[in-house]
Amino acid sequence: MNTNSLVSIADLGKEQILRLLESARFFEEHPNHKVLDGKVVATLFFEPSTRTRLSFETAVNRLGGRVIGFSDASTTSSSKGETLKDTIIMVSNYVDLIIMRHYLEGAARYATEVTDTPIINAGDGANQHPTQTMLDLYSILKTQGTLENLTITLVGDLKYGRTVHSLLMAMKYFKPRFRFVACDELRMPREYVEFCREQGIPFEEHKELTREVIDSSDIIYMTRVQRERFADLDEYERVKDFYTLRASMLETSRPNLRILHPLPRVNEINQDVDDNPKAYYFDQARNGLFAREAIICDALGIDVEKLKKETLAQA
Ligand code: CP
Repeated sequence: MNTNSLVSIADLGKEQILRLLESARFFEEHPNHKVLDGKVVATLFFEPSTRTRLSFETAVNRLGGRVIGFSDASTTSSSKGETLKDTIIMVSNYVDLIIMRHYLEGAARYATEVTDTPIINAGDGANQHPTQTMLDLYSILKTQGTLENLTITLVGDLKYGRTVHSLLMAMKYFKPRFRFVACDELRMPREYVEFCREQGIPFEEHKELTREVIDSSDIIYMTRVQRERFADLDEYERVKDFYTLRASMLETSRPNLRILHPLPRVNEINQDVDDNPKAYYFDQARNGLFAREAIICDALGIDVEKLKKETLAQA
């Protein structure tokens, strides 16, 4: 296993997280470098993606590397029965870094066990999405000026939403207060509730997204109900429209409140929120490029501090 892999947000300590956020800030100011000259990166997406794949591929391009990969596994030999193990071993023969999304929880961890090529988990089932968490943290830091002592309200599909699972774990370093707003069917899984208890993180569980909850939040993190994870589509139909955030619901919210969403959205944020200055989800997705440039450099052992000094010396 390559120790530069990023499989779970739990792989990162507080110092590493803060260092990556500093790197993301640098890449936002200076996105184009040639540090990946001669390097090839694979993006293996066994599940659909818009933002994660395209921002990773843009990041590689902006860093001067090249990308191979697929966005539709049905066009690959996995459709002929090739195992994940064989696919990873084969692709490792060609590239310096593998970025992968897979529908099975634990797939990225498994990949690290069959290759020495670093693996970045771009989402594994309902489990983890650590690179989304890094851009979420960067977005929170940019909009709040701090990661410490914030009240964060997570809304929607807390059962299957891997982004909220990763975010919750990363926030343990920053003294958050959480509100979990979900219907009975999509409550935060017990393991994450237990995690909060063990870490001493205060949390409340709510079924309604009330004015009181909204007005005492610094961040509201909306999520899509993950249709693709439901075994019973009738159940999905019952719960899919449980929460819709509308602009009128934000009228008495805190000035610093920002609305985040990992996207894609379906019905959970009404389009009338888009023009509200508290809507931040499109900027959040843009931040993904800078966070992912930082993550790629980290996985490939590129010294961003040195790069910063060189860049500033040339300025
Ligand atoms: N947030 C996110 O993972 O989006 P995509 O599914 O479009 O990559």
